[in-house]
Amino acid sequence: MTTTTPSTDQTAPTDRGGAVRLEGIGKKYGNFTAVHPLDLTVPQGSFFALLGASGCGKTTTLRMIAGLEVPTSGSVHLGDEDVTALPPYRRPVNTVFQSYALFPHLDIYENVAFGLRRRGIKSVKKQVADMLDLVQLGDYARRKPHQLSGGQQQRVAVARALINRPKVLLLDEPLGALDLKLRRQMQLELKRIQTEVGITFVHVTHDQEEAMTMADTVAVMNAGRVEQLGAPEDLYETPRSTFVANFLGTSNLIPGTVDDATPDGDVALTSRGTRLVVPAARCAVPPRAGGALLLGVRPEKVSLVPVEDEARIPEGRNRVRGRITDSSFIGVSTQYVLDAPCCGRFEVYAQNIERDARLTPGAEVVAHWNPAHGFGLDAEQDIDAGVATAGSEGDVA
Ligand SMILES: Nc1ncnc2c1ncn2[C@@H]1O[C@H](COP(=O)(O)OP(=O)(O)O)[C@@H](O)[C@H]1O
Ligand SMILES: [Mg+2]
Repeated sequence: MTTTTPSTDQTAPTDRGGAVRLEGIGKKYGNFTAVHPLDLTVPQGSFFALLGASGCGKTTTLRMIAGLEVPTSGSVHLGDEDVTALPPYRRPVNTVFQSYALFPHLDIYENVAFGLRRRGIKSVKKQVADMLDLVQLGDYARRKPHQLSGGQQQRVAVARALINRPKVLLLDEPLGALDLKLRRQMQLELKRIQTEVGITFVHVTHDQEEAMTMADTVAVMNAGRVEQLGAPEDLYETPRSTFVANFLGTSNLIPGTVDDATPDGDVALTSRGTRLVVPAARCAVPPRAGGALLLGVRPEKVSLVPVEDEARIPEGRNRVRGRITDSSFIGVSTQYVLDAPCCGRFEVYAQNIERDARLTPGAEVVAHWNPAHGFGLDAEQDIDAGVATAGSEGDVA
């Protein structure tokens, strides 16, 4: 792989100019709060995703970083500099939008060269060639935008934004117009480009899989607030709210009452007569004896056996009884829906290795899992938060 480093001559490796720090940044439109005052730090050189359903305030947050929107409160810092009062063109930031807005009458080469020419730079050849190499469009330099596919046009838009050597690249649903397969390819492509140039990317998306595939750190936004921020794996394995548990993938959430809790050990709870266990360290709130708690577990962490085989389940596993109401074979796995007395709907994803022919709709079954794979959530929240919004724009989970 060739390595193009468009920022080497201006940017020392120790430069922190690409770190983004938002302090108490918020935005109101009249009485409506689009973004509640939030603090956010994006480390220099990281691939950061803002993830949330349509209308939760992602674009507004991005536009405040770019200087396209004046915050109602708070400040924006790039590196050590407070840029809150600077106009967009004075900020070392560039934005790529869903609509690539290439100049239709200019060829690819001139589209990419545009930013340099506007700054009065005469010898653009080397930089444009490097940029076209970076996005792997060297052979397309003399084509017009309409002669390229959507994914290729979006790569031109990225090249055009990067040639000005921004310290931060903001991307607002840049892959939204592409079909699913192309979007997957472009996710990997953008990730490669970011790794190669090493500048900070802040990527906005409503697609949870996209955020998890691409970003080092994901901030999950809901109704103008950041609900949780972390590495994709941590968000998925230990969600701290029902919204995150439901919006990122699928979770079974079982309401229970705590019987017994030790701070370092296990929490025992009862849910309609079913005894369950979750490690205290995996609870988002300190569990109190007699208090309510939601026990969460991901469907792929759970195994399923016909009730007549219950004796084969090893000691120490959580068990939930139920009846299969639906099963869908989707190739790599079979997705079962149970009706369980303790919590109503309960989902189990079983890898298709050796399928048990008895696991069909109507069968009485026991679902079981290692307690270490569960997580505990505050029972005061809406148990269905984030359910309806996940994938609501036609995404495949
Ligand atoms: N200029 C504006 N005037 C009034 N309301 C706005 C304006 N821009 C955005 N909003 C509202 O602010 C909320 C957040 O919008 P936005 O940041 O675009 O969300 P997202 O990008 O997450 O879909 C939405 O409810 C939207 O309708
Ligand atoms: Mg938006």
